[in-house]
Amino acid sequence: AFYHFDGAPLAGRHVLVTAGPTHEPIDPVRYIANRSSGKQGFAIAAAAAAAGARVTLVAGPVELATPPGVTRVDVQTARDMAAAVRENLPADIAIMAAAVADWRTRDVAESKMKKRGDAPPALELAENPDILATLGASDARPGLLIGFAAETDDVVENAQAKRARKKADWIIANDVSGGVGQSVMGGAHNTIHLVTEDGVEDWPQMPKEEVAMRLVERIALALENDDD
Ligand code: CTP
Ligand code: CA
Repeated sequence: AFYHFDGAPLAGRHVLVTAGPTHEPIDPVRYIANRSSGKQGFAIAAAAAAAGARVTLVAGPVELATPPGVTRVDVQTARDMAAAVRENLPADIAIMAAAVADWRTRDVAESKMKKRGDAPPALELAENPDILATLGASDARPGLLIGFAAETDDVVENAQAKRARKKADWIIANDVSGGVGQSVMGGAHNTIHLVTEDGVEDWPQMPKEEVAMRLVERIALALENDDD
C-alpha cells in the first residue's frame, strides 16, 4: 500500500471526508459544477484508513476508485452531500475537501431546454447550504473540524477569514490561481498553507498523496496532545 503508519494512530476514530465536486442539475442533460478531481479528498480518506480510522467518504461525481477500507457514499448535489454528512455523524474528525457548488439553479427544468432562436435562457440561482459552516455551528461538531479554502487571491487572509466564519479548527488553503486549465484543480500536486489557531504553516509543493499523509500525521499528533 502507498500509505504506511507505525501502529494505527487513528484506531478507534471515525473520520468523515467530503471530496469531489457537486453537480447541480439545470435540466436532464446539463449541470453546474466545480473543477475538482476529488484526488486530494480521496487521498486523505485513503491515508486516514491506513492509519486505522473508520472512514466515511462522501463523494461527489468523480471517476476514482474507492480506497481500501473506506466506506463510500456517492452523491450528486450539494444538498445530497449535506444530507449524507448529517446521516454519517457523529465523527471525531471531519475533513471537508469537497469543492461544493455554491449555487444551484432555483428551478430544474423537467425537459431538455431547447434553442429556439430567441434570447438564451437566464439561469436563476439559489445558494446551496454551507456544509462546513453548518457542521461548525452544530451540536454534533466533530472534535477536529478541517476545511479547505481554494483561493486565487489573498490566499492566507481569505483562509483565516473562512476559519473564523465557519468555526473550523484548521483550514487548508490552496492557491488555485494559474489560470483556467493550468491550476491545481485536477493536477497531481498541491501547495498548501495550513491555517490553525497557532498561525500559518507553509508547506512546500508536493504530491496530493503526500499532503494526505502529512495531514494524517498532524491529526494524529493533535489528538495525542489532546489526550494528555
Ligand atoms: N464548503 C461547504 N459547503 C459549501 C461551500 C463550501 O462545506 N456550500 C466547504 C468546502 O468543502 C471547504 C470550505 O467550505 O472546506 C471552503 O470552501 P470555499 O468554496 O473555499 O468557500 P466558500 O465559503 O464557498 O467561499 P467562496 O467560494 O466564495 O470563496
Ligand atoms: Ca465556494
